Parts: sequence; structure tokens; C-alpha cells
Amino acid sequence: MNRARINIVGCGRVARSLARLWSQAGALEIGDLYSRSLASARATAEFAGAGRVREQLRHMGSAELWLIATPDSALAEAATTLAVDAPLRAGDCVFHCSGACSSELLAAARCRGATTASAHPVLSFAVPESACRAFAGSHVGIEGEPAAAARVEQAFSAIGARCFAIDARHKMLYHAGSVFASNFTVVLLDVALQCYRAAGIEPDTAHALMRPLVEAAIANALRVGPASALSGPAARGDVELVERQRQAVGDWRTDPGLAYEVLTRLAFDLAARARH
Ligand SMILES: NC(=O)c1ccc[n+]([C@@H]2O[C@H](COP(=O)([O-])OP(=O)(O)OC[C@H]3O[C@@H](n4cnc5c(N)ncnc54)[C@H](OP(=O)(O)O)[C@@H]3O)[C@@H](O)[C@H]2O)c1
Repeated sequence: MNRARINIVGCGRVARSLARLWSQAGALEIGDLYSRSLASARATAEFAGAGRVREQLRHMGSAELWLIATPDSALAEAATTLAVDAPLRAGDCVFHCSGACSSELLAAARCRGATTASAHPVLSFAVPESACRAFAGSHVGIEGEPAAAARVEQAFSAIGARCFAIDARHKMLYHAGSVFASNFTVVLLDVALQCYRAAGIEPDTAHALMRPLVEAAIANALRVGPASALSGPAARGDVELVERQRQAVGDWRTDPGLAYEVLTRLAFDLAARARH
């Protein structure tokens, strides 16, 4: 059976991981690879063990699928260049992998008769080797024109993704969910370590203090939900302690003080929801 061919524009971490997964699964034929730098396109071909490196976008051949995997800020411009320079055909599917941006950014490709979509893998691709190992079973949020969305879903399902539909109008908020869950959790752990340090606790001891608290908080929130998992002064309704602590943190440093104030409001709100 003939496999569909995919061309890739923008050969970074996501591109090389997906190219390897599709190639190794025999799900897609990896066609032409183009990136801003030749080195990145070559590294992708080497990592995937497939694909032909093209020095110019206008030298790319035809393909049924086109992945634009540039950073989000370059997606619209890359789609415009693609529409002008690449051999796009009516019915070809052009998609990106951004979680925050809508497939509307690819509108330029639609002028050539292509259909557009986006597929956001909810996974870190920071280390492509690890991303490839972890990919099977991960979630991929898909939106776009129905024909393109179905095509993209087929491609991701073939490498073990669990695809689900997202609403293009709410992608910023959808993506913010992951930012809060993942990125800001890391920021909060850093603030916690700084608090311990400012209180004279040695780094090793601070890590040891923090680990069981963090592990239990996350495990409980995932098991019984945030409202039932919340503990601490706000959960106990200890307004006086919270106020003294807000003052102490604010006196120490302004931004952690502001974060404490806002997070405390959210914590009281969560505690109130837990009671209802
Ligand atoms: N990283 C993640 O964990 C992750 C997770 C889910 C979704 N995503 C999404 O996946 C997409 C790609 O992310 P990434 O992490 O793979 O980014 P990345 O590692 O920074 O790779 C982007 C690649 O695009 C190339 N590039 C930049 N501008 C270009 C242009 N105008 N034309 C052609 N190539 C261009 C870059 O340049 P060089 O050729 O100079 O290297 C680089 O190789 C983004 O939409 C992102 O939101 C990322």
C-alpha cells in the first residue's frame, strides 16, 4: 500500500521526533525537509533516518501532507512562503503543532486549495530521544477544517497518539492550562526553594523538605481533585496567619509577595468550593 508523503518546513525538536516516529512506524513516507539552516534539516534527516534535505523551499517536491514546525512566531510567514513557493496542490493538508495558535494562521495555504489543521501533542519535545520513547499513548489536540483534521488524526493515531478535538477559538486558554500545570509548577518550586534559602535552610535540606510535600500535593490533587487536596492556612481559614505571612513574603521580595497575595485569594476560593 502506498504511504502518504509528508514534507516538513522547520526542522527543530518536534519535526525530528515526529519524522522518526512516522518513519519507524511506516505510517508516512518522510519526503522533503527544509529549515532555515541546512544543519537543522540534515540533523532531522539523520535523526529520523529518512527524508531528503532541500536547501530552498521552492525545491521541495509534492506531498499530501505538509507540517510547518517552525516556532509559533514564524508560522504565518512560513505558511505564506509555502503558498507562494512550494508545489501545493488542491486537497493537500497543511498543519502545524502549536498549542496556542489556531490553524487560521495557515490561511495563506488555503488560497492554493490546501486544507489546514493543527495538531498539538501535549508532551515535551525538549529531548527528542525521550519524546520518541514517551510518545505512544500521549494526547494530541486537533482542530481545523474537517478533511485536514481527519487526515492529521489518522497520521497521529498511527503512531499511538490519543487524539481529541479542541476548539480553535479557545486555544490560548487551552494552552494556558498546560502552562499553569507544568511551567508554573516549576516556577513555584523555584520560589519555594528561594524562601527556604532566605530562611537559612541549606539547599540539600530544602530539597528534602520539599520533595514529599510536592509529591503528596500532586498525587492527591490528581487522585481526589484540587478542592479536596488543598491543605495549609487558607484551607484552614486562618486569615490572621495568612496576612502575617503575606506581609513577611512581601517584605522579603516584591514579586513573590504579589504571587502570595493572588495565590492566597485563589486558595480561599478553592477552599470555599470544597465546603460546598
Ligand atoms: N517543544 C515542545 O515541547 C513542543 C510541544 C508541543 C508543540 N510544540 C510546537 O511545535 C512547533 C515547533 O516547536 P519546536 O520546539 O520543534 O521548535 P524548535 O526546536 O525551535 O524548532 C523550530 C525550527 O524551525 C526553524 N525555523 C525557524 N524559522 C523558520 C522559517 N521561517 N522557515 C523555516 N524554518 C524555520 C528553526 O531554525 P533552524 O533551521 O535555524 O534550526 C528550527 O529548526 C511550535 O509550533 C511549538 O509550539 C512544541
